[in-house]
Amino acid sequence: MKRRTFLSAGAALAVAAVLPRSPRAQPAAGNALVSAKIGDRALPVIGLGTARRYADPAGEAELAALKATIARFLELGGQVIDTAPSYGRAEEVIGQLVQELGVRDRLFLATKVGVNSREEGLAEIDQSFARLRTKRIDLIAVHNLRDIDNQLAILRDLKAAGRIGAVGATTSSDRQYPAFEAMMRRQALDVIQVDYAMDNRGAAERILPLAQERGFAVMINLPFGRGRLFEATKDRPLPDWAREINATSWAQVFLKYIVSHPSRPIAVPGMAQARYVDDNLAAARPPLPDAALRRRMEQYVDAL
Ligand SMILES: NC(=O)c1ccc[n+]([C@@H]2O[C@H](COP(=O)([O-])OP(=O)(O)OC[C@H]3O[C@@H](n4cnc5c(N)ncnc54)[C@H](OP(=O)(O)O)[C@@H]3O)[C@@H](O)[C@H]2O)c1
Repeated sequence: MKRRTFLSAGAALAVAAVLPRSPRAQPAAGNALVSAKIGDRALPVIGLGTARRYADPAGEAELAALKATIARFLELGGQVIDTAPSYGRAEEVIGQLVQELGVRDRLFLATKVGVNSREEGLAEIDQSFARLRTKRIDLIAVHNLRDIDNQLAILRDLKAAGRIGAVGATTSSDRQYPAFEAMMRRQALDVIQVDYAMDNRGAAERILPLAQERGFAVMINLPFGRGRLFEATKDRPLPDWAREINATSWAQVFLKYIVSHPSRPIAVPGMAQARYVDDNLAAARPPLPDAALRRRMEQYVDAL
């Protein structure tokens, strides 16, 4: 193993746990995906985000492309799908495609609740179960702190009743970080989800270390800054150091930076094309950058 790369013994064990189940997709041992735990589930560190591109598929061709994306995601060992009631028809689209593919038990379905009262929360969550066509949702997180105390109380009851697997909270705006940190100190959560990217590292200042201290699993939204990082690096060849982590695309560089954070996050890049799945899932394969290489990566992006 190169000096600038790492794969801890714990991660090596976790790798074994997330080999794809389809015999067709069985990778060589060295190709297994690095995983992180939510509760007692070991999950590959790259998931699939559904904001915008799953919101309103126009016609059969677009729906078929999304279905092919999810099928490829599963084939490569992907498990975590992140959605929300506020992403247009995304929950409904995921529910339909997962049912058609017959793969509910192979996925970790994460959604959110984002309303203003207990009554509205109960109604929105009921709707999520119906739209996702499932009896159990693996994670529901309170969206952007909205009505957080009431909604967490509902989610804890649902977890106790076995209807959801984990309880979380999300943000994607640094204006909310102070309130988010305060919430993290007073609430017990299974998961937090926050924005973090190579050029947007505010979450690493206090939120990610606090998640480690509190024992919360971490999910990362906006890992590409909605395409901002691609725009910043377009026309640039990959730096030499990308070879040290076997990154063959900018997407893999951006994602390997995220998932190598010591809080061992699961990133949920938005993916609505099968070719993005091939590209992005490769970022879940070792080697990952160590602390020294992560600093060089930051310096590179800061100088753009
Ligand atoms: N507060 C919250 O809870 C919150 C807020 C925001 C997002 N989220 C979650 O985080 C997820 C990710 O955010 P996002 O989808 O808005 O932004 P993102 O992941 O930063 O960027 C996604 C975009 O990057 C492009 N892309 C993806 N893979 C690529 C690849 N391999 N090569 C080149 N381009 C690639 C695609 O653009 P094109 O489609 O244009 O090609 C895609 O739409 C969301 O889907 C959602 O699940 C949560």
